[in-house]
Amino acid sequence: MSTDWKSQYGEQIMKSAALPSAELVRGEGAYVWDSEGTKYLDFLGGIAVLSLGHAHPALVEAVSTQIATLGHVSNYFATPPQLALAERLLRLSGGDRVYFCNSGAEAIEAGIKLARRTGRPRILSLQNSFHGRTMGSLSLTGKPALREPFEPLLPNVEHIDSTIEALEAAMGPDVAALFVEPIKGEAGVIDLPDGYLEAAREITSRHGALLILDEIQTGAGRTGAWFAFQKTGIVPDAIALAKGIGGGVPIGALVAYGDAAELLTAGQHGTTYGGNPLVTAAANAVLAEIERADLVANAERRGIEIRAALTGLPLIEEIRGQGLLIGVGLSAPVSAAVVASAAAEGLIINAPNDTSIRLAPALIIDESHIAEFIEKFTKALEANA
Ligand SMILES: Cc1ncc(COP(=O)(O)O)c(C=O)c1O
Repeated sequence: MSTDWKSQYGEQIMKSAALPSAELVRGEGAYVWDSEGTKYLDFLGGIAVLSLGHAHPALVEAVSTQIATLGHVSNYFATPPQLALAERLLRLSGGDRVYFCNSGAEAIEAGIKLARRTGRPRILSLQNSFHGRTMGSLSLTGKPALREPFEPLLPNVEHIDSTIEALEAAMGPDVAALFVEPIKGEAGVIDLPDGYLEAAREITSRHGALLILDEIQTGAGRTGAWFAFQKTGIVPDAIALAKGIGGGVPIGALVAYGDAAELLTAGQHGTTYGGNPLVTAAANAVLAEIERADLVANAERRGIEIRAALTGLPLIEEIRGQGLLIGVGLSAPVSAAVVASAAAEGLIINAPNDTSIRLAPALIIDESHIAEFIEKFTKALEANA
């Protein structure tokens, strides 16, 4: 095997992440190929990003046409794709206003600014949560090992247990906002306790605090609803979006509801590329295709099929998550070895921690992809049982 790309990566790329296991060169649908010519079934989808899979014709067409028409204008100007995406996102989410940015962390930063504009000092988030790596979003992230090398971070942020009792105990008139992931993706796809979001809505409203949901991993149909909170019937004050709405094009958004949508005023926030016509045309095409092909229903249905097929396989102790955001809890701390065995079988999955495997395939997958996944994944589990 050629190691040229590995030595170059090791010498030239900042050492902020581990050395990758392969160099990928091409993708189509649910498959990718590496520079050795090996074909993989992609059941990670760029970490819950590739809603339509790789090189979907609708996304290719939208990006190609838009860059040939009007690629960038700055936020001094409006553009038709930006307005079309705003219209579509607000219709799908029931929100009142949207702020566009470039990533999930930036969508969280916009949420932190909304929280600051309440005039209240304290912010709550959950232990074991993940909200991003910028200094503000990292302050909210509930993993001490990620935060500690960069302290001091934002003051007055508390990471509380994911229980209704802990929220009641922490809440008060000085709390600006509670940030919550409907499913904790980076923690290993961990579901909230039953009724948590409903209780969080009631408690935050009672204290006049904002409820800001991080739907960066759960949004855009992945959980079998357009946005995970819609399965509960609550209305949040804001949702942070990224990943799946762009389908591979870097975009983030903060959708706000009611009074929260009026908190930011002219000149208080912005970014050069936010809402740029290229990325908004792309996101609009992604969401239009999810609607046209009813991929939200497909996510729900395929998620049920995958769960049924996983039941009873070796090493599997627990199956978590919703739709096509699936956490597989293992009975032994061998997830890294399972990921390596899967790669050797031509399957891409990932291990958010020692005992969890995360699956986040494209929403376009069908029964043949599931059969292939189960065959390869079973071998990877058996090799480590
Ligand atoms: C729930 C959640 N919030 C925030 C982020 C940060 O998003 P980004 O990596 O686009 O900055 C992520 C990324 O994994 C995420 O999963």
